[in-house]
Amino acid sequence: MYTKEMYESMKKVEAAREANAVLEPRRMTAEEKEQLLATYHPDYKQDEFAVLQVGPNKGEKVPTQLAALLQANSRVKELKVDLDKVDYETDVLVIGGGGAGASAAIEADNAGASVMVVTKLRMGDANTMMAEGGIQAADKPNDSPAQHFLDAFGGGHFAAKKELLYKLVNEAPEAILWLNELGVEFDKSEDGTMVTTHGGGTSRKRMHAAKDYSGAEIMRTLRDEVLNRQIPVVDFTAAIELILDENGNAAGAVLMNMETGEILVAKAKTVIIATGGAGRLHYQGFPTSNHYGATADGLILGYRAGAKLLYADTLQYHPTGAAYPEQIFGALVTEKVRSLGAKLINVDGEAFMHPLETRDVSAASIIRECSARGKGIKTPEGEGIWLDTPMIELKNGEGTIEKRIPAMMRMFGKYGIDIRKEPILIYPTLHYQNGGLDITDDCQTTNVKNLFVAGEAVGGIHGRNRLMGNSLLDIIVFGRNAGRNAANQSKNVTVGTLSLDHVEKFAKECADAGIESDIVSPKLLPSYARKA
Ligand code: FUM
Repeated sequence: MYTKEMYESMKKVEAAREANAVLEPRRMTAEEKEQLLATYHPDYKQDEFAVLQVGPNKGEKVPTQLAALLQANSRVKELKVDLDKVDYETDVLVIGGGGAGASAAIEADNAGASVMVVTKLRMGDANTMMAEGGIQAADKPNDSPAQHFLDAFGGGHFAAKKELLYKLVNEAPEAILWLNELGVEFDKSEDGTMVTTHGGGTSRKRMHAAKDYSGAEIMRTLRDEVLNRQIPVVDFTAAIELILDENGNAAGAVLMNMETGEILVAKAKTVIIATGGAGRLHYQGFPTSNHYGATADGLILGYRAGAKLLYADTLQYHPTGAAYPEQIFGALVTEKVRSLGAKLINVDGEAFMHPLETRDVSAASIIRECSARGKGIKTPEGEGIWLDTPMIELKNGEGTIEKRIPAMMRMFGKYGIDIRKEPILIYPTLHYQNGGLDITDDCQTTNVKNLFVAGEAVGGIHGRNRLMGNSLLDIIVFGRNAGRNAANQSKNVTVGTLSLDHVEKFAKECADAGIESDIVSPKLLPSYARKA
């Protein structure tokens, strides 16, 4: 399956495997990391960012593609939306059918509110479904939420909003119990204790997993729960604009049927944005590990309604996206592969870095190894670095790969690569949006009342870099909190007259700033989506 040149390099990897397996590459110093990031991490490429000219974050820089969408034309611009004709009315409207949206819907239902979910694809078509490695929680005797906080705070460059991170780590053990109770089949040892492993930047083994399809297992369970409760889910229906009331509070959304184009109005006492990430915007030309609908929609909807963004200039490039074969270019190769002992090896068979540095540092280090040091392996799409998977069984015994990372084995096996016997080629892939809408610890946006946010659309939980397994955790913790809080708040809300005046006001601001755009947003689907 590999090319002749790849096999040449692979011989060196094999020859050095036993020595590399026992080698402990040293961790970088703080200064080394800073220097590395500033030179090689994509977040530091100034010419890939644009300064926003309008809106609550005017004057701040965000990725160029995101700026274009934030300052684009509304999809309702050319439409006559009749806000008096309400198609759906509910206490809590959840926009997004991933893990955060599902968790929010379940808790809103528990709190006695009427709740409905709208999703532009289907329930579960979300990054949650594609998450592999696991979910963090400090629930072992040698660990504590305080330790978890320190790891995540440091890993995020001390930029996380402390009150959000505090909530994340403190409610993590309860989140695991909740999921376990709902039926998630976590990996357990014979006595029933959960198996936990390390991730990059963790000081304790606190990664709980369902083999290497943890997200799919969690999403399966949450989706079943939503459906069993008969919570209304409107599939293939995108929110294309938020509706405010005359007081400027969130009061629903304009919806568009993705198949027929029909426009619908949903009125709600509170709204939860749980629309996920932005990988399908392919910032800086990177491939992505994200699902098809990850186009930053929630950020656009929120921003136009006046909600502030936090850290929208910081993205996560997962160090190990598949670099070869091209059919799976950019697909996630879980960090668990490195947790289990596989090391990153260059073209000459050298283990050039510690395999479990934090993600931003690992990604930058791989980029440097390929670009500045010329130690990458050529692929049809560019370059890659070896991830020496056979090392896993050398360290942990035969059968470990099939037992612990069967999805990886299958993904590469389809292309004739047996990861138990041959290493695989990886390169960073666009994986996660560290920034998003700014919220307080009740999950409400800092400046639009009755508008809540959960999951990847939130900014500030992780600071400027997220550790593995804290995203599956945040969709549960913040999804549940958003659902509960939005439901409770809805009990005291009387919705005023519905309005889209904010959309016109935003368009005028853009015109006054001299912005001319032929783009409409939210984007909803990637540029290469097949048009009907
Ligand atoms: O590497 C992974 O399995 C990804 C996990 C995450 O983004 O948390």
